[in-house]
Formats: sequence, C-alpha cells, structure tokens
Amino acid sequence: MTVSSRTQVGIVGAGPAGLLLSYLLALRGIDSIVVENRSRAYCEARQRAGLLEAGSVELLRSVGLGERMDAEGLEHGGIYLQFEGERHHLDFRDLTGGRWVTIYAQTEIVKDLIQARLAAGATIEFEVSDTSVAGLDADRPVLRYTDSAGTRHQVSCDAIAGCDGFHGVCRDSMPPGLIQTAEREYPYSWLGILASVAPSTDELIYSRHPDGFALHTMRTRQVSRLYLQVPADEDIDRWPDERIWTELQHRLGIPGWELKEGPISEKAISPMRSFVAYPMRYRRLFLAGDAAHIVPPTGAKGLNLALADVTVLAKALTSLLQEGDADLVDAYSDTCLARVWRATHFSWWMTSMLHVDPNRDEFGAALQIAQLRYVISSRAAATTLAENYTGYFRLTWEP
Ligand code: PHB
Repeated sequence: MTVSSRTQVGIVGAGPAGLLLSYLLALRGIDSIVVENRSRAYCEARQRAGLLEAGSVELLRSVGLGERMDAEGLEHGGIYLQFEGERHHLDFRDLTGGRWVTIYAQTEIVKDLIQARLAAGATIEFEVSDTSVAGLDADRPVLRYTDSAGTRHQVSCDAIAGCDGFHGVCRDSMPPGLIQTAEREYPYSWLGILASVAPSTDELIYSRHPDGFALHTMRTRQVSRLYLQVPADEDIDRWPDERIWTELQHRLGIPGWELKEGPISEKAISPMRSFVAYPMRYRRLFLAGDAAHIVPPTGAKGLNLALADVTVLAKALTSLLQEGDADLVDAYSDTCLARVWRATHFSWWMTSMLHVDPNRDEFGAALQIAQLRYVISSRAAATTLAENYTGYFRLTWEP
C-alpha cells in the first residue's frame, strides 16, 4: 500500500541545508516535509565542519537560531599563518572593518534545527529508504520514500529541494545531459582528530610545513580539533594516536609554544576535492549544498555555502508559492553559483598555498612561500584572504 499526501516543499536530506530550508520556509508559512535516510542520532553526531562566516552567524541570529550559538560559540577575529618556522597573525576585524568567524560545530547547528522543527510540529522522517523524485516535467513533482516502519509514501509537492549531499539521489534525477560538472581532485587527504584537551591556541593555526600541512582548530574550550595532510589513499590504521601527536608536534611546533595533547575521541581521513554541478535547478527541482558543490575544507566554506544556498532558495520559493512570481527561482542557480565559484576559488587557493605537493615540485614550493610572504606583508593581500575567509558575499533575511 502507498500512502499519498501533499505538501508545498519536499526536502531530501536532514543536514544543515535541508533543515534550515524547512525552518526558513516555516517562518514564511510554507509547509514542508524533510526525509533523511540516516537516523536522528547519526545526523546529530557526524563530525563535520565547525566554522561559520560572520554572515552565517548573523543569519542564524536574525531568524531566531542564535541562542545556543551565542552562548557556546567561540568568536575569532583572525587566524595564524605559519611557514618557515614563523607564526604570523592576520587580524580580520582590522582588515575587514569588523568581520569575524565563529566556531560552532555543524553537529550543534543540526541539533538546534531538529529541536526547533520538531517543537514546531514539523515532519522529519528519519531512516527512510528507496527515496526518489519523479514527475519533474509536471507542475507537481512527486517525492517517494519508504518510512522506517516499511510504509511506502508518495508526496505531491509544489517544489522539491535536493539537500541530500554529494552522493544523494536528486542530482542524478535531473534530465540526462542537463547538468555539467567541473571538478578537481587533490593528491592528498586530511586526517582529522577530536581530542579532549583545551585548545593550545586562541585562534586557528594554518601551518605550511615541508612534511605537510597541519591545522589546529577547536570545537569548545575543552575540545581541540586538529588536522594533518596525509597521502590521498592513506590507511587510518597506519596512524596510531602516538604517531598523530608526534606529527602534529613536528608540523605545528615553534619555539616557546606548546601543543597540549589529550585523549583522541575520533579520527577519520577525508579526501579533498573541488566539484561544481550546474545549473542547480531543473524546473521545480532545486539542488542545494553538497548535492551541487564540494570544496576542500581548507577555506572552511562548505557549511557556509549550504546555509547560503537555502537562504536564497527559501526567498525564491516564497515569492513563487505566495506571489506566483518566478523571477527569483529563475535566478536561483546563477545567484548561488556566483558565491559558489568565489568560494571554490578561495578554497582552491588556500589549499594550493598550504599543502605540500607529493611530487616534490620545487618551483611550486617556492611560489607557495612567495605567496605566503606576500599575504603577511601586504595589507591588500591580507585583506583578500580576510574578506574571503569571513565571507565575501552578504547574506540577508528580512524578518
Ligand atoms: C574545523 O574547525 O573543523 C575547521 C576550521 C577551519 C578549516 C577547516 C576545518 O579551514
């Protein structure tokens, strides 16, 4: 038996993009359903990004999602860039006229959103299977899925949002030949750890070291997050905790500074790639977040792009569904892609400047140092980094 129902917007994926979209649409009085193939516990625990641009912070605050973020988030007014044994500070507030970034983990944003949506009586179906979208050439596309109890559902929608990540079903449901892709794979991965130890630094440290990039970031005042550049096809079993700390000490260490060690609670290796699929829309099916684009983590842009896409989409769907005005949905893909390509360039640039090429390219290595020296000595170059890092495009939401 198939249960038929109807909603205004069908949303595939309960990550930050899908959940924020459902939240913003509800503020405008628009109904949605969110379907997710993982469990709620999995969505609330998977370790992902943790850095919000100033614009993302302002958006979350202005829509009523700022309470816990303001209490627990850590504001950062700059970063350290380290190379050739020297650590240099970049002051974002000074360079950008007051912009900053905030450390607040994606898992916490997801928890806040799930709690807010469920408290408002919204439908989020976790642990669904066999999700598909159909009827894309009609005005009422259909979202199909099997719920966790095994019941088949068919939901007639005014629009469907594919917020289902890089491996999701929505991008592949677009008509054959419509979607173009541009991509770059990098010849290295990141090994990331969470450690139960207070951060050893007030602000993030990005270190270019001849033996590979390292990053010291954090989650809370008691939890550090650290990353190491490792070979692209690296096996995590080759990295017992002791080796990780030795390598972090080696790549991050400078005289007079100490990296504090602690128990490692999580470790994982993730590949690095840049990927953009376009257009991000076919008629009433819209892609948002990782379903449409992936950036390497060096610029900390992935989460911010996902939040920005759905903010644009929520506004566009509001004018389509409430005023019958299609101008904003027609502009959706181009509006998002301008921001996506700016972030894609920035992430590629940061990645290329800071990682060691496994092919030992001497010319490339000298260019990296020249570029880093320029960034720390020229106010114009430092401002370029700072205005991109804190968020180049504004993000607005009218209450
Ligand atoms: C993180 O906190 O996980 C993080 C921060 C900055 C980056 C990448 C990751 O560039």
